[in-house]
Amino acid sequence: MNFDQILKARRSVRVYDENAGFDSQIVTKSLERSVLSANSSNMQLWEFYQISSEEKKKKIVRACMHQSAARTASELVVFVTRHDKWKKRAAWNLANMEKQFVGKEITSKDKRALNYYKKLMPLFYTNDFLGIATLIRFLIVSYHTIIGKPIIHLITHADQRVSLHKTCALAAQTFMLSMKSENYDTCPMEGFDERIIKRILNLPASAEVCMVIACGIGKSEGIYGPRTRVPNDEVIFKV
Ligand SMILES: Cc1cc2nc3c(=O)[nH]c(=O)nc-3n(C[C@H](O)[C@H](O)[C@H](O)COP(=O)(O)O)c2cc1C
Repeated sequence: MNFDQILKARRSVRVYDENAGFDSQIVTKSLERSVLSANSSNMQLWEFYQISSEEKKKKIVRACMHQSAARTASELVVFVTRHDKWKKRAAWNLANMEKQFVGKEITSKDKRALNYYKKLMPLFYTNDFLGIATLIRFLIVSYHTIIGKPIIHLITHADQRVSLHKTCALAAQTFMLSMKSENYDTCPMEGFDERIIKRILNLPASAEVCMVIACGIGKSEGIYGPRTRVPNDEVIFKV
């Protein structure tokens, strides 16, 4: 299938053929493709859980309120955001960058790149009990707004969460398109009890479940109707 055919063939399928053969390796391969997705500042604050244990799958189906896509899926994958890993990932990016600069004279452009992970990432991702980091971000953003200089309005924990979920959702889309390219069907789900899933996967309090994706060979009755979209001119604008 070419890209257009993959896009057109991907549908949210809610009933899977439980007797059809299923190659788990295709899920693994698709997750390996997902890590190539665009992500904010290459911080990769995501995790993907391929549920291979039958016992865990049963528990997650229950957390997905027994909805049919989850219940009949051959496999489930959980897409998770990990705000708590920001220090580790900033250090990883910084170390990578420093390696590239070994034996080279550091230019002001290189310094800016290094400071991106040394100073800017801590400014974006730090949260503290007293809200001091949020206050600092608020003051910086307010100052820029007053003097009319553009700035990212990333201030609160909610702003950070939006950024993390954007990144994770892009990985989920890569995953679904990859699965379709291998002739497998998927269904993204946000209908689940996040607290239960976090407990099943032993995730820390700050982790968030972005989506659970059901995978399998879809049955024709698993497509609930023709694909409908509002007219393009309601959502696509050339300005
Ligand atoms: C973030 C998100 C959450 C979704 N949650 C569910 C869900 O819980 N259950 C479900 O059956 N479908 C769910 N869907 C699938 C959508 O209903 C579906 O993508 C939409 O109707 C368009 O249909 P299509 O995917 O076949 O093009 C979800 C999709 C997205 C992107």
